Amino acid sequence: MSTEGVVGRAPTETLAPVDADGAEPQGDRSLPPGPREPPAVQMLRWILRPISFMESAHKRYGDIFSVRFLGFERPMIMLSDPDALRALYTEHQHGLPPGRTLTLRPVLGPSSVLLLEGQDHLARRRLMLPPFHGERMRSYESTMREIAERELASWPLGEPFALHPRMQALTLEVILRAVFGVSGSERAARLRELLPRLVGQTASGTLQVRVILASRLRRGEPLESMHELMRAIDELLLAEIAERRRDPELADREDILSLLIGARFADGGAMDDRELRDQLLTLLLAGHETTATALAWTFDLLLRNPHVLALLLAELEESDGDVDGEYLRAVVAESLRLRPVVPLAGRRLGAELRAGRWTLPPGTGVTPAIWLTHMRPDLYPEPNAFRPERFLSDPPSTYAWIPFGGGIRRCLGAAFAEFEMRVVLATVLRGRRLEPVGAAPERIARRNVTFSPRAGTRVRVRAPSAVAA
Ligand code: HEM
Repeated sequence: MSTEGVVGRAPTETLAPVDADGAEPQGDRSLPPGPREPPAVQMLRWILRPISFMESAHKRYGDIFSVRFLGFERPMIMLSDPDALRALYTEHQHGLPPGRTLTLRPVLGPSSVLLLEGQDHLARRRLMLPPFHGERMRSYESTMREIAERELASWPLGEPFALHPRMQALTLEVILRAVFGVSGSERAARLRELLPRLVGQTASGTLQVRVILASRLRRGEPLESMHELMRAIDELLLAEIAERRRDPELADREDILSLLIGARFADGGAMDDRELRDQLLTLLLAGHETTATALAWTFDLLLRNPHVLALLLAELEESDGDVDGEYLRAVVAESLRLRPVVPLAGRRLGAELRAGRWTLPPGTGVTPAIWLTHMRPDLYPEPNAFRPERFLSDPPSTYAWIPFGGGIRRCLGAAFAEFEMRVVLATVLRGRRLEPVGAAPERIARRNVTFSPRAGTRVRVRAPSAVAA
């Protein structure tokens, strides 16, 4: 999810310095030690080899350590112990992580649920959560299935191709239809063309670096190149919102935009057009690339673990494609554990945090190291193995499985994303027999704020699946 970079403006409170030698900290209020390289080197290590960077720091300094990234004046603390994560997530005073707003506010706008704090944030969450859950969410099943069927009908037989871009096209279409409520119109076609460009530009590493430099030097307008694109998208979205308000069938529509138009805050107020536009772009940026990447990883893991795939196909066959099967759910959960798409989702402490033997003061930037938590052998024996069975017999605790973050900022679309993944997996696996291309499993590449399959999950379609209905 393009929610936050590792770049950004640091908070201004003063803290005890990190012990540069990594020696025993003095007193409760110093910060945990961590890698000693200069921030530019640590940043480079994070960009180039994020996993080895985190794992080596974890090995040397333990479950809680400080890292320093270029652009931050102060260290960020990485946590991976479930007790510390519980303490972090159950305290609701913590704010947005340093850096989230810098690149995102100009694109998402001031009302985005991803960028608000306190009561303003909670009010939006209350309003926006219902369509992403329960029966409401299930009403999107036939749309998701139809989009997946149309997508796989376009795949070539026998020729290798990368699945990740296909999943991106698919999840974009799901957002356009289920969230924005647009489909066949000319406007929908324009959005289909322009939105991926916006997503690509927002995620660009070069843009992020230009944003940090401009913020530190206090000059330049790094987002200028995006202005025209954003103006064109705004025009389309505002026209769609205006038309939707006039739709005589608004009350019967099930897409999320229509539901948000009809929804009311506790004080009886409603979202205005600008705010609806902000939330639509937020849902797109948070929900499209993340779900596509999670699906690409799941296919890679399944194709590299034929015994798991066989068990899943057997369940799908037995249940006639039902998407509520327990093994299908476990496959999705295990894939999000072993390949967490968003490796960091931080907070700026709004209150003191006790984590292990450390007491971190308010203002500190803290982030769950989701990858490290998911790779703990005490929680997940043989953590590198893809083993959905872990989620059948003795499922992990809330704070041991955190692909969607946690607390009052836990991913708003988590249930929707898991549901979409189940529908797409069931439809594709019943419709086509896929084979991996090449002998090696996908390697992890850090792509902006996500961990993504380096070669795009290359596959070959052999034939329609034996399980096809
Ligand atoms: C597999 C797919 C997805 C993953 C791995 C994922 C992951 C995350 C993570 C880690 C966070 C930050 C949570 C925190 O700060 O503790 C988040 C927030 C969010 N996600 Fe997702 N996400 C996914 C799909 C979606 C979808 C489909 C949508 C909606 C269409 C969505 C909408 C949001 C929103 C609006 C937030 C901000 C919540 C807030 O700040 O209150 N996400 N997501």
